[in-house]
Amino acid sequence: MKDFKDRVAVITGGASGIGLALARRAADAGMRLVLADVEEAALAAAAAELGAGGAQVHTVRCDVSQAEDVERLAEQTLKAYGGVHLLCNNAGVGGVRVRAWQASTKDWQWVLGVNVWGVIHGVRVFTPIMLGQGGEGHIVNTASAAGFVSMASTAPYAVSKHAVVTLSEVLYHDLQDEKASVGVSVLCPAWVGTNIWNSQRNRPEDLRDHADTEAERAKREQLRALLEKGRVTAADVAAMTFDAIAEDRFYVFPHPKIRKDIQTRMEDILELRNPTRTA
Ligand SMILES: NC(=O)c1ccc[n+]([C@@H]2O[C@H](COP(=O)([O-])OP(=O)(O)OC[C@H]3O[C@@H](n4cnc5c(N)ncnc54)[C@H](O)[C@@H]3O)[C@@H](O)[C@H]2O)c1
Repeated sequence: MKDFKDRVAVITGGASGIGLALARRAADAGMRLVLADVEEAALAAAAAELGAGGAQVHTVRCDVSQAEDVERLAEQTLKAYGGVHLLCNNAGVGGVRVRAWQASTKDWQWVLGVNVWGVIHGVRVFTPIMLGQGGEGHIVNTASAAGFVSMASTAPYAVSKHAVVTLSEVLYHDLQDEKASVGVSVLCPAWVGTNIWNSQRNRPEDLRDHADTEAERAKREQLRALLEKGRVTAADVAAMTFDAIAEDRFYVFPHPKIRKDIQTRMEDILELRNPTRTA
């Protein structure tokens, strides 16, 4: 998709971080926006900022893990603008940093609910709309570098992002088979300074199973420091994503060095070596 002006972009997790940067980039390109998020105050602030810059913005409170919320998001998008051309399935949470056997059932439900089911619902609900309306479209699924490697103490997050990568690859093949004019990209950043270190802020009460501990707070602060050291900004990631959309490029790796770790993993697999610890 090369023409963005006046076309409609739906961005989940659009109130913060990479989603907000994608929204700013879409607004700069003259797109009309639908921002979907669970964090209503941040959503209102994002809409106010973008609206003040002249963008047309519609906001929807939407929990992407819930089928009916995503269905309502599509209905409201069609009601507001009559179509959708760019879908960014971007909402995501970082989860917990514990050993694989220590993540609780609710930890898994929370992370897989947002990161995997959110993308599944987006693909399931919006792809038929984009195919049915005809013309060009593009779907960007935000996975992660974690979708290609297997770091210690990241089980729910890594599982969720590996799932998003393969869902995106299958979607690509299916759309190619259908000779559709809807493209797909999978966005795979490494460390970007956003609010993901504090994902627990949006964790639903019914998916919490214990009070926050001092150790967890310390781990979050460590993650925050790591993210803030990252040289690639959310705005850089958004610019690279829009270049990929315009060039109909599938894989988007804003941090090129991660490809070395992916190569090591692939070689481990092909040479039947035990997994190399890369990070
Ligand atoms: N920041 C990084 O280093 C990094 C690296 C790789 C991948 N990612 C991915 O980028 C995406 C965006 O994350 P970010 O880093 O901008 O974090 P962020 O916390 O700044 O933004 C995520 C947004 O998603 C929203 N959200 C959370 N749960 C939701 C739900 N159930 N329904 C709808 N919205 C929900 C949050 O309210 C927030 O606005 C995620 O999918 C994340 O996994 C981030």
